[in-house]
Amino acid sequence: MFRAASRFGFRGRAAAAAFAAVGSGAALVGLRAQCDSKSLSEGDLKTLIGRLADKIDRIEEGLAPSGRADVVLGAQWGDEGKGKLVDALSADYDICARVAGGSNAGHTIIVDGKKYAFHLVPSGILNEKTVCVIGNGVVVHIPSLLKELDALTAAGIKWEGRIKISDRAHLVFDFHQELDGAIEKSRGRNKIGTTRKGIGPAYASKIQRNGVRVGELKYIEDFKAQLSALADYCSNLPGMDPIDVDAELAYYDSVRERVLPLITDTVSYVNDAHDAGAKILIEGANATMLDIDFGTYPYVTSSNPSIGSVFTGLGICPKKLGAVYGIVKAYCTRVGEGPFPTELFDDTGAHLGKVGREFGTTTGRPRRCGWLDIPQMRYSCKINGFTHLNLTKLDVLTGLKEVKLGIKYMVDGKEVYEMPASLRDLGNCEVIYESFPGWTQNIDNVTKFEDLPPEAQNYVLRIEQLLKVKIRWIGTGGDRNSSIER
Ligand code: GDP
Ligand code: IMO
Ligand code: MG
Repeated sequence: MFRAASRFGFRGRAAAAAFAAVGSGAALVGLRAQCDSKSLSEGDLKTLIGRLADKIDRIEEGLAPSGRADVVLGAQWGDEGKGKLVDALSADYDICARVAGGSNAGHTIIVDGKKYAFHLVPSGILNEKTVCVIGNGVVVHIPSLLKELDALTAAGIKWEGRIKISDRAHLVFDFHQELDGAIEKSRGRNKIGTTRKGIGPAYASKIQRNGVRVGELKYIEDFKAQLSALADYCSNLPGMDPIDVDAELAYYDSVRERVLPLITDTVSYVNDAHDAGAKILIEGANATMLDIDFGTYPYVTSSNPSIGSVFTGLGICPKKLGAVYGIVKAYCTRVGEGPFPTELFDDTGAHLGKVGREFGTTTGRPRRCGWLDIPQMRYSCKINGFTHLNLTKLDVLTGLKEVKLGIKYMVDGKEVYEMPASLRDLGNCEVIYESFPGWTQNIDNVTKFEDLPPEAQNYVLRIEQLLKVKIRWIGTGGDRNSSIER
């Protein structure tokens, strides 16, 4: 039985809705008193409408006849802090699912000072009641997955029975990773700066229709034939050494018994769970600006890590979607090559990299750092339809004399308010900034908005005003609990 269904049932759902209504209703009492004593300002009115909208959302959530699927997505170029929010929220969800990417993702979670890094395992795994699903849209490198599971066991996390891998997910083989390296080498100065985790070549095999799916492991003779054909094909590609197919086959023979119990028809599992009332949290990997269609092509990953992957990578339909949470750093980072209009090459960039500990979770490479880019974020909000934002790492800006927001681009003398497609335009654009006074007061681990210095509050509110999406959470530290909820 799924938790949401057993927790509430239908009568329980009404009670939950009433509870939510009472909770947010209480928050309105103060405003109503203000309303009685004096006329409402425009700001008060906006707050009132915002709270009423939240209240309606919560009532609807409680009364929904079936479950709901909420989504966490990277809004910039990755590493925004998706893992932290997914971990923090997943205690309230029955299922946590990955839908795109592979072990190129690196999601860090810190609980009571203990650090975890997940690449394929969904970040909900630390909550012992959450079932974790690796959806059909993910490309799975089995040796990496088993290594992560072993690390979980070593850390005393009980994951047995809580990991389900889609039978439709495609496999990443070691030779895909070698091919990734060979392609990068052949591109020379034009390299993408991939993670070399075999992501591009594995998705290429999938699209080319000679990939091998996880479910094939059930029928070992079919699996062997498909793996041999794929290895044969890949070994003839430029830059590739001969592939030791027998060693690959022997490896999969040796781990097959461990993997088989994890293989699941996750399309049925997730949809049945939803219909029984389960709450599903979808964990985006990579990010919108790395999307093969919407990102800074060709400096992107090889999947669709924006909103579309929720449907194609899990097999749920749009009407099951609830909230879409966009994760955005209070500044901006990017790993690998490609355009980055607000990139900083000065002491401020060095501050962001050092204080923010901006080194890749997957590759250890230093991340490029720059100011928050509003045109990029407008574009990201448009594509994903974020219902709320989580502004992470605000604490990293502490100590800067001045904080800036890229407000618009000038391209060929014209004002541009969203991300252009052309790399030439992006390369030539001039960014126009808005400047704000910084703050020196330590805000590490602050949990109340009112406890932020006014300069930090203003910065957050200006971003909200420019993007027209509510900033629901603000990150003030890496730990699970270092967050403000508004
Ligand atoms: P993801 O790939 O989006 O899950 O992000 P990563 O885990 O790759 O990178 C985010 C990094 O920032 C991790 O080291 C997190 O522990 C850390 N982090 C997340 N939120 C905050 C925050 O609000 N403040 C600080 N200082 N660190 C944070
Ligand atoms: P998370 O989920 C940051 C980047 C790589 C490279 C490009 C293509 O941790 O936010 P690939 O190996 O996917 O072919 O590399 O995409 N990239 C990421 N950058 N965070 C990620 O994931 C990334 N996943 C891919 O650095 O520039
Ligand atoms: Mg990351």
